[in-house]
Amino acid sequence: MKKIFVVGAGFMGSGIAQVCAQAGYGVVLMDVDRQVLDKALAGIRWSTGKLSSKGLLNEPHETIVQRIITVTDLKKSATADWVIEAALENENLKLEIFRELDRLTPARTPLATNTSSIPITRIARAIRHSERVLGLHFFGPVPFMGLVEVVRGEKTSSEIFDKGVYFVRSLGKTPVKVRKDIPGFVMNRIFSAAFKECVELVSEGVVSPADIDLGMRLGYGWNVGPFEIADNAGLDTFVRVNESMRTLGADHLVTRCDLLQHMVQEGRLGKKTGEGFYRYTKDGKKIKDAH
Ligand SMILES: NC(=O)c1ccc[n+]([C@@H]2O[C@H](COP(=O)([O-])OP(=O)(O)OC[C@H]3O[C@@H](n4cnc5c(N)ncnc54)[C@H](O)[C@@H]3O)[C@@H](O)[C@H]2O)c1
Repeated sequence: MKKIFVVGAGFMGSGIAQVCAQAGYGVVLMDVDRQVLDKALAGIRWSTGKLSSKGLLNEPHETIVQRIITVTDLKKSATADWVIEAALENENLKLEIFRELDRLTPARTPLATNTSSIPITRIARAIRHSERVLGLHFFGPVPFMGLVEVVRGEKTSSEIFDKGVYFVRSLGKTPVKVRKDIPGFVMNRIFSAAFKECVELVSEGVVSPADIDLGMRLGYGWNVGPFEIADNAGLDTFVRVNESMRTLGADHLVTRCDLLQHMVQEGRLGKKTGEGFYRYTKDGKKIKDAH
């Protein structure tokens, strides 16, 4: 059984671990926080249980959960067939992790980052054989989103890029190939440009988040409104990604108003804290309209 090592067990890392295990891979899920790992495993058990009760899995969900082990350091990356990094959006942190991966893993192991904004070439600076670094940009919630951007850094080899495309397909996802390594890649740049306007319109009191979400669903055929997407992703992650985009020279895509920062300071991070632009029950159901 091929083994995938996932770094970071938050919203994205736990979802990536789940879809890898569902596709039959063995998974080592790593986080520095033991409580996060326990929560991630419980979430995967709950999510696969739900899928199973709807008849969407072709094996018992416990079999899937048992393919995942959890660890608090990077050592087991040495024997992995793929490494996917999904730790916090912070360039220095990612460089630190990749330096350690460079030391621990054989030079042929593909190293992927799930960064939302940082060019792959910048992260690959930490790796001597930087041709093995690429971007696999999953979308959240990972078990339900079909898209993965496969991003080519300046030094990524054709072999590794093709392997990335193949690997994404093996997870039942659809790859979109990004051939130039720019901040925010493609989908995040487009979403950021739209979301910047959404946040400013709300901040200026022109319209409520709920009405924008409604408008984008009914008027433009989006399945989920931009504020629902933001609440799902985590507003703290949005603030980090905005900060990163700003530093990387893509500030024209990022709002200058501080609504998101205020919400994060108040602990309103979205679904994960029970409140963001909407309020949520304990099991993540929306309970009332936007503020
Ligand atoms: N949230 C989204 O919708 C989304 C979508 C696509 C990509 N991303 C990207 O995925 C990455 C993770 O985002 P997230 O939303 O899962 O964030 P998150 O805050 O839910 O999870 C990040 C995890 O990283 C862990 N971590 C911190 N330092 C670490 C270290 N040294 N080693 C291992 N783990 C460490 C934290 O404990 C935390 O559990 C970021 O780069 C983000 O930009 C996020």
